[in-house]
Amino acid sequence: MALMVESDAHVDEVPLAQGWRDFADVLAAGVDRVILYGPPGTGKTFAALHFATLGGAAERLICTEDLTTADVTGTWMPAGHDRWEWLEGPAVRAWRRGGRLVVDEVDRAAGDVLSLLLAMTDTDGSAQWQHPHTGEIVRPAESFTVVMTTNIERLEELPVALRDRFPVAVRIDRPHPASVRRLSADLRRPALSGTLGEEDRRVSLRTFYAFDQLRERHGAERAAHLLFGETRAQAFLDALVIGALER
Ligand SMILES: Nc1ncnc2c1ncn2[C@@H]1O[C@H](COP(=O)(O)OP(=O)(O)O)[C@@H](O)[C@H]1O
Ligand SMILES: [Mg+2]
Repeated sequence: MALMVESDAHVDEVPLAQGWRDFADVLAAGVDRVILYGPPGTGKTFAALHFATLGGAAERLICTEDLTTADVTGTWMPAGHDRWEWLEGPAVRAWRRGGRLVVDEVDRAAGDVLSLLLAMTDTDGSAQWQHPHTGEIVRPAESFTVVMTTNIERLEELPVALRDRFPVAVRIDRPHPASVRRLSADLRRPALSGTLGEEDRRVSLRTFYAFDQLRERHGAERAAHLLFGETRAQAFLDALVIGALER
């Protein structure tokens, strides 16, 4: 990703987490179907949207139980008082453009959307979609890529057929160095190490951003209380101090 960033010894001396290295290697090799999975708040969605997105800005589907097939391939829209036309959805747009389709939180997609996703993420040779109005057969342009993200840990929970379309799944368990540079210097390393908080209650990037913002106005103690509550606030502050001493 093209991000101009100041160098920062504290961040630069932390080796790039394996997951981020894997993701970069996989994209560089031209693999065009990748799953990013792991705990929330590590920058999976951000990376899916911005890393190596040839063909312009990524198209994003956020899967919820309310997402419908119309949100994926498109829907009829009124165009004048007795005319309807098909408005193409993000997946078709990404196909045509040869861009990136990001399927965010894929584990939450409902059954009919999942079936459609099977079709829209199929191998380039097999994938095709027919325009319901013009009958045009659309196929994904060669540079089309899909990155799916999910916070689930067990990929077996995804439908086998969908999983099968994505030969590579990369587990991301730490923030990317670029993401912590937005933080005050003393928070960057703790945020990057991803070890603050117990395994099942890790302090996510979003929480670090909020802590930084609250601390600026209200001081560290109050910020920690607002974010973590009475019982966990002190543990967080202690961990920050220990983190600061370690470096
Ligand atoms: N490389 C980055 N540069 C700047 N901000 C980032 C970067 N990666 C993540 N963020 C920010 O961190 C937050 C969490 O990232 P997100 O991609 O939503 O995480 P996840 O999908 O793993 O839950 C978001 O506010 C996002 O904008
Ligand atoms: Mg996400």
